[in-house]
Amino acid sequence: MKLKSWLRLLLLTVDSNAAQFNQVPLTFPDDWNLNTLPSPNATGHLVFDTISSLLQHWPNTRYHYVECWILTLVTTRPLRVLYFDGSSATKMPDGPMDTQDLLAWGAVLPERATVEWEYERLNRMCDTLGFDAMQLNFEVMLCNFTDGVQIQTFLRLEDEPRFPHHGYAFIHSSTWHDHHPGETRIHLDLTYAISLYDIALAPSLVSSRYGQARRDHRVLGIDERDMAAVLARVQAIPSHSSHCSGSGIDWRTLFQGLRDRYATRLEVLRSVLVEDNSVQRAFVLIQTLLGPYRLHSAVVPPPSGSDTAFAVPVFRLCATAHTLFANSESVQATLTASEHLLLTAARETNREICRTLVGMWAEGVRYPASLSGSRLTGKWRSEVDRLMDWLGWSVWMKCRPACAADESCYLPGGPFSMEEWNCPVPRCVRLFEPYSGID
Ligand SMILES: *[C@@H]1O[C@H](CO)[C@@H](O)[C@H](O)[C@H]1NC(C)=O
Ligand SMILES: *[C@@H]1O[C@H](CO)[C@@H](O)[C@H](O)[C@H]1NC(C)=O
Repeated sequence: MKLKSWLRLLLLTVDSNAAQFNQVPLTFPDDWNLNTLPSPNATGHLVFDTISSLLQHWPNTRYHYVECWILTLVTTRPLRVLYFDGSSATKMPDGPMDTQDLLAWGAVLPERATVEWEYERLNRMCDTLGFDAMQLNFEVMLCNFTDGVQIQTFLRLEDEPRFPHHGYAFIHSSTWHDHHPGETRIHLDLTYAISLYDIALAPSLVSSRYGQARRDHRVLGIDERDMAAVLARVQAIPSHSSHCSGSGIDWRTLFQGLRDRYATRLEVLRSVLVEDNSVQRAFVLIQTLLGPYRLHSAVVPPPSGSDTAFAVPVFRLCATAHTLFANSESVQATLTASEHLLLTAARETNREICRTLVGMWAEGVRYPASLSGSRLTGKWRSEVDRLMDWLGWSVWMKCRPACAADESCYLPGGPFSMEEWNCPVPRCVRLFEPYSGID
């Protein structure tokens, strides 16, 4: 499967013992002011979303080929695979190949985003990086067909076209992995995940991202120093597989737990606030969302006046409840550099969700009379819209109304529907006769 996004991540499918990375100090300012918005340059939410979207079709399509012989291979040992997220198999000059170029040639070369350069790029990466294969979103490119794999079958199939367009077969198989949990036959080792959103690793990209929509973020423009640092991080990934590197924290589960907790309920909150005079109902929903963090001591005695200090313990508890355990020295000592990045991403994302919700909750607690009017509706709606836009989770992109049983919700993107490449809106298509057009 080949799909678009600006490649921000490189990951491995093997584990290993801790490498000696320069540890990035954990910064989590003790600022519990409900009015402090995240910095426009902060990337924790972007790391959070990209990491929790790995090996899933939709998120990696949104933020940007399939004669006929079939070869089936089985592995004879664990393969060391370097994984690139996004639509990294789609040869387009405007982003998807940036990270591969950087690792192959030490420069982003958009003019080489063509089929003619594909094998040279692969060979360069295979020769210099020491991996068995490159995985470009769902497409695996082996470095050596006789090393670590064995042929199971090599068959000639009937080459009669079964569909009016080969794209239907492609879309059929991609829908299996559209959403969480994605492709589960690949095991990513997040303890060595590398993100180009890591501001400590690639500070030169901060200014090129500034003011740009997320889908326009690129690696193009990275400076020499940062390029060398990224390459050094990839080369420092230990070559021997063990299953005990890092802290042992199940990051994908931690991230997914946060998504589960908020994804549906934020969506409902937004839909409630579309109706007039719905603030009271929205407030009840927010109370439920914050239920595990609404300390008895915070609202007894009832707060009065314009001070929001009473809400600070609720904000702090909500923002830290899921990651507090990682503050302990024993956990800190085991985190890899990559895990520090993941922890910061979880914290920043969780914090902003809580800041927004607790801000609304505190307003409702202080001014109960305003819950029956319509004054707060627009204000709260724009707060929820801003938060959801900042989070940018693909789970909120849906076919509305939902598709029929013999239809699929299709997110247009490469290699088909290129005219919708940059602003895909999902729509129901028929992947069975009579087919819907997909191009
Ligand atoms: C591929 O792997 C085989 C078996 O390990 C080895 O003999 C051969 O030299 C490798 N080929 C290349 C081009 O590295
Ligand atoms: C964000 O980055 C831009 C571009 O580098 C810079 O001008 C701006 O001061 C930064 N803002 C903050 C709050 O750090």
